[in-house]
Amino acid sequence: MSYSIAVLPGDGVGPEVTAQGVRVLETVGRVFGHTFHFTTHLVGAVALRTYDTAMQPETLEDCRRSDAILFGAVGDPTGDDARIIREALFPLRKTFDLFANLRSVKVYPPLIGGTTLKPEFLHGVDLIVVRELTGGLYFGKPKRQWRSLQGRQGVDTLRYSEREIRRVLQVGFELARQRRKKLTSVDKANVLETSRLWRQIALELAAEYPDVALEHMYVDNAAMQLVRRPAAFDVIVTENMFGDILTDEAAVLAGSMGMLPSASLGKRRRDGTAFGMYEPIHGTAPDIAGQDQANPLASILSAALLLRYSLGLEREAQAIERAVEQVLEAGYRTVDIADEGATILGTQAMGDKVAELVAAGG
Ligand code: IPM
Ligand code: MG
Repeated sequence: MSYSIAVLPGDGVGPEVTAQGVRVLETVGRVFGHTFHFTTHLVGAVALRTYDTAMQPETLEDCRRSDAILFGAVGDPTGDDARIIREALFPLRKTFDLFANLRSVKVYPPLIGGTTLKPEFLHGVDLIVVRELTGGLYFGKPKRQWRSLQGRQGVDTLRYSEREIRRVLQVGFELARQRRKKLTSVDKANVLETSRLWRQIALELAAEYPDVALEHMYVDNAAMQLVRRPAAFDVIVTENMFGDILTDEAAVLAGSMGMLPSASLGKRRRDGTAFGMYEPIHGTAPDIAGQDQANPLASILSAALLLRYSLGLEREAQAIERAVEQVLEAGYRTVDIADEGATILGTQAMGDKVAELVAAGG
């Protein structure tokens, strides 16, 4: 089969790591007999400098024609982050209705020693957060600042419709069903109306998923449990802002942000796939940009998620994930995950290793 993928490398280390994601996909194509057509576009600070917009309309059009988007990272210390979010990130999420943001945290046994947390709590951590991505406080109206007789005021609005809540909860239930069948719905139902609605809908849906154990957890408690007993979580589902905060916290469990991929998915199609945007959780890391030091594994693992969720190529996705595990077991490390006795590789050499193993395993 032939697939088209829009590549948006962005700023900082984005282009270096995305290049490795692309080349591992090319290897998968050769081994499994697929053709991937890549079209690359500037987004973020580099697009601002070149075109005076963080994302050109043509870029969005090309994404629309593609089967999926492979994204790097955007922003730079001198750039206008608010503009980049407004002109690139949010339009991508909104245009393609990418309402379900999947961020998985898996602790690879060879990396356990490298985290800042006690190793004994990290064994067996393998959780995935489904964060609602196109609603809630980020987009609710009214959203503004104004002057009044009492001084300056500001408002953001936390609003959710039944439809928005149901569809993201469904993603959580479906994922849990394919995994360890446990779903933790995180809310603040002791205070917020949107959370009370969320909880009601979760309970209603639970009847359709009798095989999945549903638990409700307040977000403050969830923040604590994530570091107290992270291995107890399987799938967590939550609204936009809670998910933003909890996923940064959860990322610490993995030892390095350089390991964590993400998928932002739209509505599921009949064949089970969905349009999606795939990106590392880490940012642009400007301090090491251009030095061949960045860890490309998050981008490579994002490419695996792209194969799984947008193209329905499960075997191919697993081939990449297995290759990454083997590379780590063999002791290869980028600097961010290096421990004593490890063989340190640069960004490209790490990509080479994974591609080699994909080729050998396929
Ligand atoms: C993320 C980021 C974004 C978000 C910012 C950059 C708008 O923190 O993807 O988690 O809050 O969604
Ligand atoms: Mg965030």
